[in-house]
Amino acid sequence: MQTLTILGATGSIGLSTLDVAARHPERYVIFALTCHSKIVELAEQCRKFNPRYAVVSDSSKFEELKQLLSIDCPNTEVLSGADGLSCVASRAEVDTVMAAIVGAAGLLPTLEAAQAGKRVLLANKEALVMAGPLFMRAVKEGGATLLPIDSEHNAIFQCLPSDYGIENRGGVRKILLTASGGPFRTIALDALSSVTPKQACAHPNWDMGQKISVDSATMMNKGLELIEACWLFGVTPDEVEVVIHPQSIIHSMVEYIDGSVLAQLGKPDMRTPIAHAMAWPERIDSGVSSLDIVSAARLDFEAPNLERFPCLALAMRAAEIGGSAPTALNAANEVAVDAFLRGQIGFTQIAEIVSTVLNQAENTELSTLEAVQLCDQQAREQARDLIPAIA
Ligand SMILES: NC(=O)c1ccc[n+]([C@@H]2O[C@H](COP(=O)([O-])OP(=O)(O)OC[C@H]3O[C@@H](n4cnc5c(N)ncnc54)[C@H](OP(=O)(O)O)[C@@H]3O)[C@@H](O)[C@H]2O)c1
Repeated sequence: MQTLTILGATGSIGLSTLDVAARHPERYVIFALTCHSKIVELAEQCRKFNPRYAVVSDSSKFEELKQLLSIDCPNTEVLSGADGLSCVASRAEVDTVMAAIVGAAGLLPTLEAAQAGKRVLLANKEALVMAGPLFMRAVKEGGATLLPIDSEHNAIFQCLPSDYGIENRGGVRKILLTASGGPFRTIALDALSSVTPKQACAHPNWDMGQKISVDSATMMNKGLELIEACWLFGVTPDEVEVVIHPQSIIHSMVEYIDGSVLAQLGKPDMRTPIAHAMAWPERIDSGVSSLDIVSAARLDFEAPNLERFPCLALAMRAAEIGGSAPTALNAANEVAVDAFLRGQIGFTQIAEIVSTVLNQAENTELSTLEAVQLCDQQAREQARDLIPAIA
């Protein structure tokens, strides 16, 4: 029996995780579920899974959630705020933490889970992008097991030798990180400035939260994933090649020095990588049906056009610079995407804002949490300052 905390249970990854867990009640017991503000949804999940804790990170909703759970879930204790998240991420009774909060808000509890030596299922790539050295140190010192949830990184993990490590590359030459190209892969370049949030969130292959959907449309998501891959697999940015593969059937590939290329294929359904990481090194049913390779029929590939996807170029630059550049990039992107979703800026202004912040940012090494938080905060302020000027 594994006890499981799901940080971000009400989101897209959280829901898929609960779907997989519900298929295997003999293997998984839900210890804690968290949300930011969707307390009605969280209460519904509590009624079904009867967790020990329910956490709402927006503390103003604490009393309301308590009220919602008082009759149906008397055994579920309600916590709130950063302390609540931290508690359920690191408590001794927890074996596995699904880190599925979106954005920088997930950093602290995910870091705490790593420090506490948990099995960390990492969906919250922003935590690793903004605090790579700190995060990897916490994993090492805490003795945590870090398993990637991003379908691409999970695919790479599956294609690497089982004893792969920084000292033993096992003949790996490079990583081919695939990307669908999102909803705007073929749209006329001059139409990009007027696309709407609704269009940007309408991903052709994946059903995801709003922030990652916009990141996929700009391909910032692939840039964040490139940085994530460098930390997870101990490679340099030039050892990762981004390849557009519009069908999203191959989830990524690993090339070896003998010329072999191993790929992981499957339907675009996050329950596959989630089930893989939950059960690893075993395999369990994820609820995903068989891939019909005959009806899939063709697999296309192309190089990304960096003029169409300037956010990818910016993330590649931040990966090369290292230090505080990925932290600033991530923070500026979060502010810009939020402004786009609120209708305050246009789609192409996301890249403009990130570029300006990245150019202004002083590059330093961020070896403490305080330094990461300060850099994140400064980049957010710089990005916010650009919004009224542009809008
Ligand atoms: N969706 C995918 O297919 C996918 C694939 C690969 C990687 N990922 C990564 O997984 C993470 C989650 O993505 P998602 O698509 O599941 O996002 P999502 O659907 O937007 O869900 C985000 C979750 O985080 C919670 N949350 C939001 N703001 C928070 C805050 N300030 N403090 C604490 N919790 C907060 C939300 O609570 P409320 O519901 O109450 O707002 C929700 O539970 C992201 O880092 C994303 O890049 C997602």
